[in-house]
Amino acid sequence: MNILVTGGAGYIGSHTCVALLEAGHTVIVADNLINSKAETLERVMQITGKDIIFYQIDVTQAAAVETLFAKHSLDGVIHFAGLKAVGESVDKPLAYYYNNIVSTMVLAQACQKYNVPRFVFSSSATVYGENKVPFVETMKLLPTTNPYGETKAISERILTDVVNANPQWSVALLRYFNPVGAHESGLIGEAPTGIPNNLMPYIAQVAKGKLDKLRIFGNDYPTVDGTGVRDYIHVMDLAEGHVVALARMSAGVSIYNLGTGQGTSVLELVESFVAANGIEIPYEIVARRPGDIAKCYADVTKAKKELNWSTTRNIMDMCRDAWGFEKNYKD
Ligand code: NAD
Ligand code: UFG
Repeated sequence: MNILVTGGAGYIGSHTCVALLEAGHTVIVADNLINSKAETLERVMQITGKDIIFYQIDVTQAAAVETLFAKHSLDGVIHFAGLKAVGESVDKPLAYYYNNIVSTMVLAQACQKYNVPRFVFSSSATVYGENKVPFVETMKLLPTTNPYGETKAISERILTDVVNANPQWSVALLRYFNPVGAHESGLIGEAPTGIPNNLMPYIAQVAKGKLDKLRIFGNDYPTVDGTGVRDYIHVMDLAEGHVVALARMSAGVSIYNLGTGQGTSVLELVESFVAANGIEIPYEIVARRPGDIAKCYADVTKAKKELNWSTTRNIMDMCRDAWGFEKNYKD
């Protein structure tokens, strides 16, 4: 199939490009490189030995998007492009609402106009808000505590309404849990700018000596050891989930949690990183981070049953591959 991957130069997008190319798809990337580098796409081509067609465009710009749709006969769109820093979204709500929602609308409109039958959307476990774990797709979404989360819930709603009006259209809303790790080659991975907000890249930079120690945000949560519990998923498992969803999606809206179904605490992740890579990670316990919840993990029954998809990589693989990328990465 001819697949448009928006945000394809980014972290999850680039790994999904690898999985798509390896599955035999033709990949067209649209990315404005606001949070990524074109070099990443060269590395994807190096890993796969296949070409990518690249447009450096902003997907909130309808004219640029339509030019692309007119040129390529697309079979599907995977929409990763977006701003994703939770804290930044509180300071810059308009940038987040504009970028994340307008991009979804512009792409949905182009799909309608050019009869592109499949649309896969990057949603997030954050839409479950303070529901009780494990999170199940049928749960009523609860308000999130930040504009970023709201952009995901609103985009889901917009796409659902468009399908209600056009029931022949196929939309998959994929709710990611915590993607970590990197491609096994170490050539592509997660390279946040500035000091990482997320746990795994922070640990990897402590391992490298770039940061002196990890700060663990709270050890008084009602969890196994008091630290926050998350459902970490290897980014290549997540990438492969997209290829499967694309192949199996049918008319209407389908919603899938993409996670492992297993919760891991911050301390357990640190211990696994030390065991996988033989590098000590100094840490201190500090106050809770505002907005964090105690536990977040998926019920993955639906993806297993309907997509016949489940993860194959474990926490040790995630820690090994995160370090495999970070140790060779040059800013
Ligand atoms: P990323 O920042 O690495 O990738 C996003 C890409 O989109 C970047 O290459 C950026 O340059 C591009 N982009 C942003 N706005 C654009 C625009 N208007 N036009 C064209 N390109 C644009 O982020 P990621 O971690 O790969 O996340 C991909 C998607 O998955 C995002 O929608 C994110 O919200 C969602 N998601 C991520 C996580 C996570 O923990 N990484 C969790 C849940 C959901
Ligand atoms: N943590 C620390 N120290 C750090 C960073 C994180 O202790 O320096 C802890 C957090 O308190 C949390 C856990 O590690 O308990 C995971 O935190 P992350 O920041 O890595 O991930 P979050 O679960 O907070 O958020 C991520 C994405 C969001 C997405 C959400 C979905 O950043 O975009 O997963 O579950 F919405």
